Amino acid sequence: MTSRALPVLDAGMAPRPASSRPAVRAVEGLSEFVTDDLALPRFHVWTLGCQMNHSDSEEMAGALAAAGCAEAPGVESADLVVINSCAIREAAEQKVIGRMGVLQRLKDANPALRVVLTGCSVRADNAGQLRRRYPAVDLFLRPDEEPELVARLGLAGATAPGAMAETFQRLGRSITATADRLPVTRAASVGEGRVARGSAIHAWLPIIYGCDKSCTYCIVPFSRGPERSRPFDEVVAEARRLGAAGYQEVTLLGQNVNSYGHDLPAQARFGDVRSERTLGRHLAIDGRPDIAALLRAIDGLRTADGAPAIPRLRFVTSHPWDLTDRLIAAIAECPSVCEHLHLPVQAGDDTVLRRMGRQYSADSYLGLITRLRVAVPGISLTTDVIVGFCGETVDQFERTLELLRTVRYDQVFAAAFSPRPGTPAARLPDDVPAAEKRRRLNELLAVQEAIGLERNQAWVGRTTEVLVEQIRPPRSHDHDPETGTEPAGSPRPLADDHVRLSGRNREHRLVHLDGASTLLGGRVQVRVDRAGPYALVGSLAV
Ligand code: SAM
Ligand code: SF4
Ligand code: F3S
Repeated sequence: MTSRALPVLDAGMAPRPASSRPAVRAVEGLSEFVTDDLALPRFHVWTLGCQMNHSDSEEMAGALAAAGCAEAPGVESADLVVINSCAIREAAEQKVIGRMGVLQRLKDANPALRVVLTGCSVRADNAGQLRRRYPAVDLFLRPDEEPELVARLGLAGATAPGAMAETFQRLGRSITATADRLPVTRAASVGEGRVARGSAIHAWLPIIYGCDKSCTYCIVPFSRGPERSRPFDEVVAEARRLGAAGYQEVTLLGQNVNSYGHDLPAQARFGDVRSERTLGRHLAIDGRPDIAALLRAIDGLRTADGAPAIPRLRFVTSHPWDLTDRLIAAIAECPSVCEHLHLPVQAGDDTVLRRMGRQYSADSYLGLITRLRVAVPGISLTTDVIVGFCGETVDQFERTLELLRTVRYDQVFAAAFSPRPGTPAARLPDDVPAAEKRRRLNELLAVQEAIGLERNQAWVGRTTEVLVEQIRPPRSHDHDPETGTEPAGSPRPLADDHVRLSGRNREHRLVHLDGASTLLGGRVQVRVDRAGPYALVGSLAV
């Protein structure tokens, strides 16, 4: 049996002894049955942040599994912990910083344990500070270096890509790595079956890496670099595989999926794609594939009986700047594209939007909402909001509340502004006090909770298609987690062969129901019996 203990990583770290895992006792005649993978590190991937990070983690876990490593159920039993971090707000970074002590204690108990930090907290411009902030980490990898994980750990097999040339780009005063290599390695991972998908029902499908926008508050362009689209045919090929494997739902991913394709070469077959961007700076998309063409191509993948091979298609995130009429038409006309759009607005006041560098006004955003609702009646709309951005006055904040009352979103993800070092907004005064940010956040959430409840109550009595994705544990406390309200009476009793199930309808509403566990992974018709601000509760329609 060859020893595959992880190497000591990075210069300056004290040498570590080989694995402290209890040695398998050499019993004559048995040693030949002891597989080599017992000596490979058991890994645990801890993922924070957005869907893109979850997708990246699936690729890293797949690469480690392909190298022969087994997954550990938790950090405590792992020899290798990969932390895929998020830097969107200071609180996200603090979650990881706050775990350094625990990780160090685990390392003291298991000197073979290695900790890798990757994701958006690792950037080209903050390399000098990482060791101080994350003392228990042995190896730091920027998001664009993730394909090198297996090789850098000394576990490289025939399938692992070797080290690749560094490419950097200047972004304002910062140097960012580019995402050039990611489309290539993604294609290899998919082709060789090296993506450890977290679900057999729903799949993430990255279509564009990085972000070319310059929202002044945002760290993402610095951590992910400029936009790089995956080739059109490769995305469609991955979707075809997912359809053939029986996936019921696929979400196309990118920081701004709406600008997909502008960096790809023009081709005659995309001659009908014209630049129709109605807001902000012109973007040359003529003759290049766009997200609308991509949705139509994936929607066009059909089963023998003519139904969409992937019944539900979603995409996230959309920047309003790049939301074209072609995309709105594709949402309206493709049967598999779900009737839901997440369209971050961030603020309802034009001065704040300008300071945020968002490139649209509240009115032009509302114009998009009208066009969407005309083209796709009943479309569900969700958004992101930042409260307490630099210089935001009470009146300007009130205009955000006004916009929420006008649009009547189905769900709002709101957060207080958190200055991010290196971003343009970090040079503006962060002048809304923390207590006032909290007050505005609570007020906004209360306004939205009432709107969400009303919009959900409109579903009561209707029948809706639910993709069942989860078996939930039985309820354990007073608050009703099903709807986010206090329960009207004692918990519903469960029929003998029933479990508590949950899933989402096409409009992305969370729906709870009781039913047989065999419904998991299926699309069922559910009659909505009651509603709370955050979820619907229903029963199987017969
Ligand atoms: N690309 C998306 C878009 O066009 O808005 C957003 C992606 S970002 C990962 C998710 C959300 O985080 C943003 O929509 C914004 O509301 C929030 N966010 C980003 N930077 C922030 C900051 N510095 N403080 C608070 N929230 C922030
Ligand atoms: Fe950040 Fe703006 Fe890019 Fe979204 S579009 S990732 S908010 S810079
Ligand atoms: Fe966080 Fe990076 Fe996503 S900062 S939200 S993990 S792109």
